Amino acid sequence: MGTIIRAAITGTGSYLPGKILTNADLEKMVETSDEWITTRTGVKERRQAAPNEAASDLGAEAARRALKQAKALPEEIDCLIVATISGDMPFPATACFIQHLIGAKNAAAFDISAACSGYIYALNIAKSFIETKTYKKVLVVAVDVLSRITDWSDRGTCVLFGDGAGAAVLEPTKDENGIISVYIGSDGSATDLLKLPGGGSRLPVSAETLKNRDHYIKMSGNEIFKLAVTAMINSAQQAMEMAHLKCEDIKLLIPHQANIRIIEATAKRLKLPVERIFVNIQKYGNMSGATTAIGLDEAFREGRIKKGDYVELVAFGAGLTWGAAVIKWGI
Ligand code: ACO
Repeated sequence: MGTIIRAAITGTGSYLPGKILTNADLEKMVETSDEWITTRTGVKERRQAAPNEAASDLGAEAARRALKQAKALPEEIDCLIVATISGDMPFPATACFIQHLIGAKNAAAFDISAACSGYIYALNIAKSFIETKTYKKVLVVAVDVLSRITDWSDRGTCVLFGDGAGAAVLEPTKDENGIISVYIGSDGSATDLLKLPGGGSRLPVSAETLKNRDHYIKMSGNEIFKLAVTAMINSAQQAMEMAHLKCEDIKLLIPHQANIRIIEATAKRLKLPVERIFVNIQKYGNMSGATTAIGLDEAFREGRIKKGDYVELVAFGAGLTWGAAVIKWGI
């Protein structure tokens, strides 16, 4: 029997654009209040990319920071996977723009679309490439510039979203650290609940789609909310079972940050105390797939996960998609 190869995260990085949009700023834009946004969502402020910053600019900076920590050179990357729903352009892939910006000239570069679950989906692909010895150094970037696809006249959505990027370098390891399990799933019967309807082959851009604001996010918040709690709990449990672990073994749960009430409901059902739940929604809002990537990077840099700890990521999003990953931290 050959030695088991695991995919270990050897470096993480993140990048948040400098501009901060507070709830007070939003009060001037739509009929809302800091009190409503704080109690109903948990968001206090969010970041916004500068007009000259696109997804690849944010993603490249997060990637450079992850490479630095992994002590890896860009040319050593064999594969670059980018999870995004707000890439630079419909094509080419944002991964190709990032590849060029960072000089990862030997990488195969491609994007995946799984909305808020994108980072976990991308980690699963990277894990498989490494375990099957297809690639040795895989760079995963999750980036979204949701401010560009948010309808700033829709108070039901514009208070929720922010911009940011997170990245991780994955490499093979023969020790017991690394990604232990990943569970992912989808439900295509619910595509209508959260979507950007305009600009694709179903509804190409026209004067009509622009008038209808079809190039912005449309969301049925209430329905998504209920499905989200179930999907988060189930995914977290599935990934734990696959790893033969129980809730008490998980040092830190890093949930997708869509709404503090979804996070609290998930934590309660999993019987996880607050100190074992990572929360940064108040600073950044929901940055889609970038959220869990940034959460992992911040949790590590804040000293909340140490070598040998089990950390779990869990997310759900448009599609619907959902997923969870259990990692034995090795840095
Ligand atoms: N300020 C003030 N009032 C508001 C606002 C606002 N920003 N937004 C909505 N309201 C009002 C509504 O108009 C409604 O008023 P009415 O009763 O007079 O009609 C009232 O508040 C209640 O509205 P609901 O939609 O029922 O509010 P809810 O408590 O469900 O909160 C929210 C809305 C925050 C959107 C919530 O449903 C939610 O978080 N849903 C999940 C979002 C999510 O997880 N998205 C998926 C991930 S994103 C991705 O994949 C890209």
